Amino acid sequence: MSKKLIIAIDGLSGVGKGTLAKTLADKLSLSYLDTGLLYRAVGRKMLDAGLSAESEAVVQIAERLTPADWARNDLRTPAVDKVASQVAAQPKIRAALLDMQRHFATQQGVVMDGRDIGTVIFPNADVKLFVIASAKVRAERRWLQYATDPNDPQKTAQIKQIETELTQRDEADSTRAVAPLRPAEDAHIIDTDHLNASEVLAKALEIIQR
Ligand code: DC
Repeated sequence: MSKKLIIAIDGLSGVGKGTLAKTLADKLSLSYLDTGLLYRAVGRKMLDAGLSAESEAVVQIAERLTPADWARNDLRTPAVDKVASQVAAQPKIRAALLDMQRHFATQQGVVMDGRDIGTVIFPNADVKLFVIASAKVRAERRWLQYATDPNDPQKTAQIKQIETELTQRDEADSTRAVAPLRPAEDAHIIDTDHLNASEVLAKALEIIQR
């Protein structure tokens, strides 16, 4: 392949974008960046420093972010879920992270997943995928990932709770003023409600090859 390939994958929270993006990157020998980790890393540092998302010091945290910050293994906690979404609504923080994301694609082709990759980061991406699934299906899948007992009596209540949290994050991400979550006009929508991970991958590859 002579030209570098940029594949943008956006979509709802907990929809399996990461799994799809990682597998595609492996298959196509491209690099991979989960851009949600950048917002999570800023949120983590903000929590550690006891700052609020509106603070100017958080913009500086974003400007100085390094790959070691987003490689931390304490970025996927409920507390970070919440602050990452607050951080992601701040225009100055998004601006600080913009070039970092664009530079990631200069060396080789890339698969990047997030919320605004096809609309803001790479509006000229070669392929744009927008992945969706109902909140109920996403909550059930997420529960299964973490469940230790498939017959847990709390199962229904726990799934409901996850569904509520996912819906709140989708709402916050879709209604913010800057770079809201929405499909680019030229994005291919993949609804995964009735597809397993390998079916989603097959569909994505079919779109990319077309
Ligand atoms: O994909 P995730 O759950 O790790 O993302 C964490 C938060 O960051 C989430 O609230 C959405 C936001 N985000 C964003 O606004 N833009 C991106 N490109 C990636 C994530």
